[in-house]
Amino acid sequence: MFLHLKNLLSAEEVAQARALLSADAPWVDGRTSAGAQALAHKRNEQLAQGSEQAGTLRALVLAALQRDALFFSAALPRKIFNPLFNRYSGATNFYGAHIDGAVLRSQATGEWVRSDLSCTVFLSDPEDYDGGELLIAQPAGEQRVKLPAGDAILYPGSTVHQVTPVSRGARIASFFWVQSMVRSTEQRELLFTMDMDLLRLRQQLGEADPAVVGLTGTYHNLLRMWADA
Ligand code: NI
Repeated sequence: MFLHLKNLLSAEEVAQARALLSADAPWVDGRTSAGAQALAHKRNEQLAQGSEQAGTLRALVLAALQRDALFFSAALPRKIFNPLFNRYSGATNFYGAHIDGAVLRSQATGEWVRSDLSCTVFLSDPEDYDGGELLIAQPAGEQRVKLPAGDAILYPGSTVHQVTPVSRGARIASFFWVQSMVRSTEQRELLFTMDMDLLRLRQQLGEADPAVVGLTGTYHNLLRMWADA
């Protein structure tokens, strides 16, 4: 599933995030968090996880996810690997094709998280940098993603992806992984489609319509059958 989450962060939150991710923030070499395969072709910077800025920014992104109903419906999150922050600019400006680890241990919580879904939240305006596209390999061809600041893309954790070199300006983003209550992509997508259709039906027929009540029950019974809470 590819889902574009528009305005996940408000303009004020983007401004707050950018202020905390200024040039004098504690940026460290991004290779410290890469697996062996990724090491050779990862050149970016990441915000030091233990820093005060990282703590404030993690809370900001998690709060935004909490209030986003579309994110909840699509991801059915069980665990979120704490949001991290990276910067592509200057000589540290790309991340070649790679696949993310299947299970990751969060430094902040010490928990293991299975990466069913990946998410990137764009924090820089697309006009402020050249390159820096997120390229996600798909059987039908590559998806090229470069979104407005505050928007996010949710995509399958199983995909090979890369960030193309930034040749001007800086690309700042947040990224994290989600372990879903519903492990199967097929089942999760079916539930999401049904939930979106139910939303439309409720608007057309009202909450109390017997068919709406019945189908809402079916949605929840499918979720009960498939979810691991
Ligand atoms: Ni990755």
